[in-house]
Amino acid sequence: MASLTSREKPALDKPQTDPSLEGPGIPVVAFEGVSIKFDVKPVLEDISFTVMPAETRVILGPAGCGKSVLMKLANGLLRPDAGTIRVFGHDITKMRETDLYKLRARIGMVFQESALFDSLSVEDNVAYRLHEEAVPSEEAHTRVVESLKFVELEQAIAKFPSELSGGMRRRVSIARAIITKPDLILYDSPTGGLDPITSTTIVELVVKQRDVSHTTSLLITHRLQDAFTLAMNHFDPEAGHMRPIPDGGIDPSTKFLVLNEGKVLFDGSTEELVHSDDPWLKAYLS
Ligand SMILES: Nc1ncnc2c1ncn2[C@@H]1O[C@H](COP(=O)(O)OP(=O)(O)O)[C@@H](O)[C@H]1O
Ligand SMILES: [Mg+2]
Repeated sequence: MASLTSREKPALDKPQTDPSLEGPGIPVVAFEGVSIKFDVKPVLEDISFTVMPAETRVILGPAGCGKSVLMKLANGLLRPDAGTIRVFGHDITKMRETDLYKLRARIGMVFQESALFDSLSVEDNVAYRLHEEAVPSEEAHTRVVESLKFVELEQAIAKFPSELSGGMRRRVSIARAIITKPDLILYDSPTGGLDPITSTTIVELVVKQRDVSHTTSLLITHRLQDAFTLAMNHFDPEAGHMRPIPDGGIDPSTKFLVLNEGKVLFDGSTEELVHSDDPWLKAYLS
């Protein structure tokens, strides 16, 4: 992606919103017939799905099947060869970079491998977007503390990324993504490279964000365990942690999209996923 110099950067005071294109029953993200290839290699072919307001859409599929490419398409870092992608009602496939920039102000991104700035402190990493928006430093500090509290890492505010464990870096990355109170969060493999116990603590943060803020989200994972933890737990605000939904209940806002060989193999609810008769899916889930 061509990055903008600070002089070219548009002011962020006008986020890309149009109330007539948003609201209950209107998808926050809608892919329609989306295809992309690199050189001659097709990566995604004719992908269609929607993400409704307050939905958490879990994207599953084998390594290299195009999950990260799909996420980069969703925030306009890549443009498709065919199809349309609507985000907050706007077709982003033909959007100018300046408008995309405004739209991205409403999106929180948790990158694969955290992608923190090693030369910046935790505070400056988390405040990055606020600094870009020229938020006064006192207010920025208050919001950084609030964001770090959410991920239970306020004690690390003055540390540098190199001083943190993998799980802590991932927490910082989540704090950075939620500090702007985004309307859409894109999590690319938030538990990638983490051990199972640490992974669960990160999934717990995703559950907390989902159940406290009800932010529409897309979450990539290659770990089925993460997906089912998301589907079967709720955040208990009184206890301050997640717990299983009683009586084997399933979170209705969590939906699945399974990709394989560039195609949508499954699009639906947790119940539909576990009861699918598709032989590939059955083998994948077992
Ligand atoms: N910028 C790029 N240029 C060329 N090939 C790419 C690029 N990005 C991804 N690919 C290829 O697209 C396929 C899907 O990649 P990716 O979406 O990263 O997979 P994953 O599902 O593991 O996230 C891979 O074969 C990868 O090599
Ligand atoms: Mg990936």
